[in-house]
Amino acid sequence: MNTDTPRPDRRGFALALAVSAGLGAVVIAATLTLGERQPEGAAAAPPAIATEEYGRRLLRETPEWLGQDHPDPARRMIGNRLACASCHIEIGTKPGTLTLLQTTEHYPRFSGRQGALTDIEDRINECMQRSMNGKPLPMDSPEMMAMASYLRSLGAQYAAMGAGSKKTVEPATFKTPNRRADVAMGQVVYSTKCVACHGTDGAGLLATSDLRKGYLFPPLWGPDSYNDGAGMGRVLTAARFIKARMPLGQADLSDDEAFDVSAFINSKPRPAMPNLDKDYPDRAAKPIDNPYGPYADPFSEDQHKYGPFEPIDAYYKALKKPAK
Ligand code: HEC
Ligand code: HEC
Repeated sequence: MNTDTPRPDRRGFALALAVSAGLGAVVIAATLTLGERQPEGAAAAPPAIATEEYGRRLLRETPEWLGQDHPDPARRMIGNRLACASCHIEIGTKPGTLTLLQTTEHYPRFSGRQGALTDIEDRINECMQRSMNGKPLPMDSPEMMAMASYLRSLGAQYAAMGAGSKKTVEPATFKTPNRRADVAMGQVVYSTKCVACHGTDGAGLLATSDLRKGYLFPPLWGPDSYNDGAGMGRVLTAARFIKARMPLGQADLSDDEAFDVSAFINSKPRPAMPNLDKDYPDRAAKPIDNPYGPYADPFSEDQHKYGPFEPIDAYYKALKKPAK
């Protein structure tokens, strides 16, 4: 599976993509034909195109297959130019933060955000609509089936892995500092540790002038980034990811630096997701760092966005204790 050139040779990777673009067009044409021929209610047999390999490419080359620059408007399913693998590093194949190796074990499960029992496919569509600022994929589309089949193959891969390779090689887990995040300090961290790749205006660096190739270094805010309903928009979720994975290949931030830089990034403008007030039908199920209300507690939206989180945490812990 891991035949991709390891970093830092990202330009070689982009070139390889450019070379395979011709092949891509053929596969897309095949997908379209299959999609049209698939009769209603014939869900039993997944279309031949819905393979693990197609799923892997969808996650790695998302703007190429589902981006806004796709010649076929019906295929423009994502609203930014990130790839799933921009966050699910190495297409989810490495143990650790935002790995997809154990995803199959996690579903079906109850989602507080949806207020319902959810499956892998529902979870894919949450990232489609939030992290990718796009539209949900139809459940019976070859793309949904291919992505799910890829994730299931990772589950099988994980089950077959030895204890040694299941071990996470990452810095110590992020521990939330007991204070409000300092956006100004975050900007200082950003300009020393992140700017070289993600750019002065957070806009990243495109892989080539062909927008379908997406980004070599993805944007962290602005129109091509995740929207304000995304998990990465939560300061603690982002800090956990950043501490574990960034700067890419050399993750060395302290908890304080990860916390502040995460707040800095998430203080910046990004696409807006409609109807966020409908999330978490049970408001008490909202994560403490959910940046948008309404809440089931007396704390301000600002405090939910930047902290300090200890008082919010203590409030909910007290509620859970049996009142005697
Ligand atoms: C901007 C970053 C980002 C992008 C891009 C992104 N995701 Fe995610 N994804 C997340 C975060 C954050 C979580 C939630 C982790 C958590 O709940 O702690 C997540 C969770 C998931 C999960 C659930 C994992 C599990 O084990 O429960 C799946 C499946 C998933 N994403 C698939 C996708 C797919 C498919 C795409 C592309 C269509 C995608 N993601 C794009 C950030 C991202
Ligand atoms: C050496 C280049 C490099 C540096 C430095 C770097 N990143 Fe990244 N970052 C990347 C790449 C590349 C990805 C996408 C993952 C991939 O393609 O493998 C990424 C992904 C991300 C993502 C998730 C995707 C997105 O666009 O939202 C976040 C958040 C992020 N980086 C934050 C940071 C922060 C904060 C710093 C500074 C502490 C930083 N990065 C430093 C290269 C870098």
